[in-house]
Amino acid sequence: METSDDRVMTSIVIFGATGDLTHRKLIPALYSLFQKGRLPRPFLIVGYARRPYTHESFRDELKDAAREHSENGFDDRDWHDFAQRIFYVQGNLEVSPDYDVLRDFLDEQEHGPADRLYYLATAPEFYSRVVSELGRCGMAHENGGWRRIIVEKPFGTDLSSARALNRQIHQVFDERQVYRIDHYLGKETVQNILFFRFANAIFEPIWNRNYVDNVQITVAETVDVGHRAGYYDTAGVMRDMFQNHLLQLLALVAMEPPAAFTAGALRNEKVKVLSAIRQVSVHDTVRAQYVGYRETPRVAKDSQTPTYAALKLYIDNWRWQGIPFYLRSGKALAAKTSEISILFRCPPDVLFHLARDGKLNQNVLSLCIQPDEGIHFTLQAKAPDTARRLQTVSLGFNYRDSFKDTVLPDAYERLLLDALMGDAALFTRSDEIELAWQLIDSVLALWQSPDAPPLTTYEPGSWGPAAADEFMAADGRSWRLGCGDGRTHHAGT
Ligand code: BG6
Repeated sequence: METSDDRVMTSIVIFGATGDLTHRKLIPALYSLFQKGRLPRPFLIVGYARRPYTHESFRDELKDAAREHSENGFDDRDWHDFAQRIFYVQGNLEVSPDYDVLRDFLDEQEHGPADRLYYLATAPEFYSRVVSELGRCGMAHENGGWRRIIVEKPFGTDLSSARALNRQIHQVFDERQVYRIDHYLGKETVQNILFFRFANAIFEPIWNRNYVDNVQITVAETVDVGHRAGYYDTAGVMRDMFQNHLLQLLALVAMEPPAAFTAGALRNEKVKVLSAIRQVSVHDTVRAQYVGYRETPRVAKDSQTPTYAALKLYIDNWRWQGIPFYLRSGKALAAKTSEISILFRCPPDVLFHLARDGKLNQNVLSLCIQPDEGIHFTLQAKAPDTARRLQTVSLGFNYRDSFKDTVLPDAYERLLLDALMGDAALFTRSDEIELAWQLIDSVLALWQSPDAPPLTTYEPGSWGPAAADEFMAADGRSWRLGCGDGRTHHAGT
């Protein structure tokens, strides 16, 4: 891992600095890193956007945002010290000379060689323009300090646009300088998947087709598309959630152990597992839209955009051959929960003759990403004071109880720090993102075919369309939720 030399200036330049992301995520995360003494020193934060602000008025606005969104609490004195390092340069993303003004401002403030982290927090249609302007005005050159660029999602809208964007970026930056963000990878509990799997002796030997019956990944949201309807109607749940977050969770659960905990080794293993996913069959997909979606402003009246999808995937490698991975995600569902359940094969009931069908209950290991961060494992136990009644009991670990004094940092805090430190392990590499798009494109193409399942509907506040339960029932299975209180199972499980 490259480390930054504390004596040179580190400049963090945010393009599209007046937007929501800067207010809600980037500034609170940088402020928290500052409070913890983790920002390289000296540093500068420079916001670049079109609206007229002075340095002072920009700082004032960010102060309100930091007060509202800071994870560690807000302190006026800390803020004052931090805010002195924030500056604003007014510029239009589509006007070349404005970038020269930015370059000159940075050169003047940095007083010599400096490290620079560029953050693309603009609308995606500006990504390639900003990158080419950075190239044109020599701002990607590593003359005396490193240059890195963080690219927000969505990274393209399909495989060909993602490839084109990769090509444009690579004309200016080397891949080692590019940090494509997927905020799920910055979540503590997502990173913990790897620690849990590879820092414990007992799970890895059974983490394969010999012991696992199926794996389920649920990312459910209660929110509807809200004010993002214009974007969402062109994206839908496959592009918005599956291409990035769900496939990343799948990769972390299914990948082989990397030889080292380095960006290169880790991302090689993710690429291997993503490339082993079998071509999806149209019968292994469900798509649906919540009732009322088409009445949302900026959504087409005849929109076919799915707000919910479920997929059954197979990974054709030695470890997972024949084991289904069920993935589902949707908006306007009954609960917000992101979780991964590993359902193990049933033991034979030869000893106790307890189960009518000769099968005991499955052990289920649930990795709870949010909101009840933790891990739960179900076991079968003899119910006390009964002759032979079985009861399913649970072993659990909660972040809340085990790490009482630690506030879980926001994902952006981890990711910004890693990018500043030059550790790209939690960022997506170009080949990884292209593989993910290839899979998503193939599903979207299936849905255009004549034998595609129709787009069904579901009630807001439900657990999705009946088709998703039927799809599981056809395999003799049901969706499982194992995280959090009172949400252990939903109808049919
Ligand atoms: C974003 C999607 O990437 O992730 C949103 O664009 C979604 O539609 C969000 O709501 C979910 O993130 P989280 O962290 O709330 O699970």
